[in-house]
Amino acid sequence: MPNLKIRLETEADTPILSQLAAEAFGPGRFTRSAYRVREGVAPVASLCLTGWLDHVLIGGIRFTAIRIGNAANACLLGPVVVAPAVKGNGYGKTLVEEGVARAKAEGFGLVLLVGDMPYYGRFGFQPVPLGQITLPGPVDPARLLALELIPGTLKEACGKVEGYAS
Ligand SMILES: CC(C)(COP(=O)(O)OP(=O)(O)OC[C@H]1O[C@@H](n2cnc3c(N)ncnc32)[C@H](O)[C@@H]1OP(=O)(O)O)[C@@H](O)C(=O)NCCC(=O)NCCS
Repeated sequence: MPNLKIRLETEADTPILSQLAAEAFGPGRFTRSAYRVREGVAPVASLCLTGWLDHVLIGGIRFTAIRIGNAANACLLGPVVVAPAVKGNGYGKTLVEEGVARAKAEGFGLVLLVGDMPYYGRFGFQPVPLGQITLPGPVDPARLLALELIPGTLKEACGKVEGYAS
């Protein structure tokens, strides 16, 4: 498999990424609690990344700036998606690692997401202590995960999650 090239998402990429997300998550994606945080809030433009193989868009990742209670230096990772035809080649890993590195460089202290610990654990994500952080809707507590970009930020992040345009 060729190397993945990473670029910032442009307007032309958005419909292709939406199609990939529709295939990956189905119509239920609109009712997910993470989607409700992102609804109506522009993601962080410098953290909307696309992955390319030989000029073909095969995936992408976005982050949205969030407040958790009074703490405003966190971001919500998602969605991240890789085209089914090229899954399992490390492209998801590359997108997550690059996105997280850029989020850190932007000054974010914490990354939150709703996802599978068996996948995200490899990047250092850990489950959020039960009841510490709430989303606008139900979330399986085992799937609410956080990664500290600045040590100590998770214990300071308590309360409701709200997206904001950064
Ligand atoms: C999750 C996703 C982005 C990973 O992309 P990818 O390019 O296949 O990922 P990588 O190649 O870096 O990693 C593949 C490894 O992760 C594992 N993996 C993928 N999804 C997983 C999950 N949900 N839980 C546990 N492990 C998972 C694979 O089994 C594989 O394991 P291996 O390295 O031991 O063979 C991709 O599978 C996808 O688009 N899925 C549908 C959308 C989705 O679920 N997004 C994440 C939730 S927001």
